[in-house]
Amino acid sequence: MANLQELTKHFLELYGEDSEAVSVFHAPGRVNLIGEHTDYNGGYVFPAALTFGTTLLIRRRADQKLGLATTNFELTKQFDINTVVYDAVDDWMNYPKGIVYELQQAGLSYTSGYDLLYHGEIPNGAGLSSSASIEVVTAYALLTMENQPIDKVKIALLAQKSENEFNGVQCGIMDQFAVANGKKDHAILLMCDTLEYDLVPFQSGSYKLVIGNTNKRRGLVDSAYNERRSQCEQAVKDLQVQFPDITLLGQINLEQFNSAKHLIQDEVVRRRAQHVVEEIDRVLQSMEALKGDNLERFGQLMNASHDSLRDLYEVTGAELDAMVTAARKVKGVLGSRMTGAGFGGCTVSLVHEDSIDQFISEVGQEYTAATGLTPDFYVCSIGNGVEKLV
Ligand code: GLA
Repeated sequence: MANLQELTKHFLELYGEDSEAVSVFHAPGRVNLIGEHTDYNGGYVFPAALTFGTTLLIRRRADQKLGLATTNFELTKQFDINTVVYDAVDDWMNYPKGIVYELQQAGLSYTSGYDLLYHGEIPNGAGLSSSASIEVVTAYALLTMENQPIDKVKIALLAQKSENEFNGVQCGIMDQFAVANGKKDHAILLMCDTLEYDLVPFQSGSYKLVIGNTNKRRGLVDSAYNERRSQCEQAVKDLQVQFPDITLLGQINLEQFNSAKHLIQDEVVRRRAQHVVEEIDRVLQSMEALKGDNLERFGQLMNASHDSLRDLYEVTGAELDAMVTAARKVKGVLGSRMTGAGFGGCTVSLVHEDSIDQFISEVGQEYTAATGLTPDFYVCSIGNGVEKLV
């Protein structure tokens, strides 16, 4: 957690003293426990909010300017709050700008400008949703400052729209939803087609979630991600011969899929769809496992999820595979898989608390020997979704 006193000092140095108070908000990052590449297919996901994320300090201005700054990079800039547009040179600032724009599009007329200072604790490009965290904290803070009603599901949808349209990234709803609606010690079972959700206590007893950052930047992720999305759309078209009413793969179950999969012409497209439908089924099985306190079964399902993402969906890559392979060799590991979009980023493993030191040292060594990269590990607790701190 960030040191608020120091951040406030930094804010005042940057923007000057003023009689207006500085307010502070926080939104977490997220880790997805199971249900990968199912959100844009209208299926289930099972993410959880992390305890670290983005802290935002914000203060009202007397004029209509929007000041943006971060403790992570030098670049600071001012915009007119009513006329922000996307500009590639503004880099990360396009995330807050997108939110400012979408809130206005949704009918908000700003009563003043604002100065904002961000402090991000989520490693960039690690697949732990740093952009969703920035988006959601910005929307929540601006709505609060403007005395508008707060609806966290609407905030998640607005943040996703901003990422899709203002920033041109075709993500699903999972990240923004988890970052907005997370709850300490709970994971979120979310049905992405209807947005119905349940907060499920994640009681893992003496087992801990350990995130392994491959430190391999997710290079080709955007183009590969969009390609997977269109392959899923193609599969739906082919399956409509038997199920004319479906618009998303998540609308048929595994049995229905197996009875119709021969209709999918292209073998690659068929494998992609097989992953999606089986992965949605695995999320449901993992709920049964948790209800029965069967963490071993939960771990097996995590393993099966990774293997399917590797073999059928083909989004893992050498680094994630190497880390998962090393993790599964350590005694006390119930399961290990990639989390997020893939092609680099992070893994998540369920590790017995007595094995964590051994896990970090053995997986680290084996991973570095295999890839030449130095990984980072975070033993993770599940935190709250977006909230006002001060
Ligand atoms: C990224 C996207 C999410 C989701 C995952 C894969 O994190 O932002 O919407 O599609 O990939 O499960």
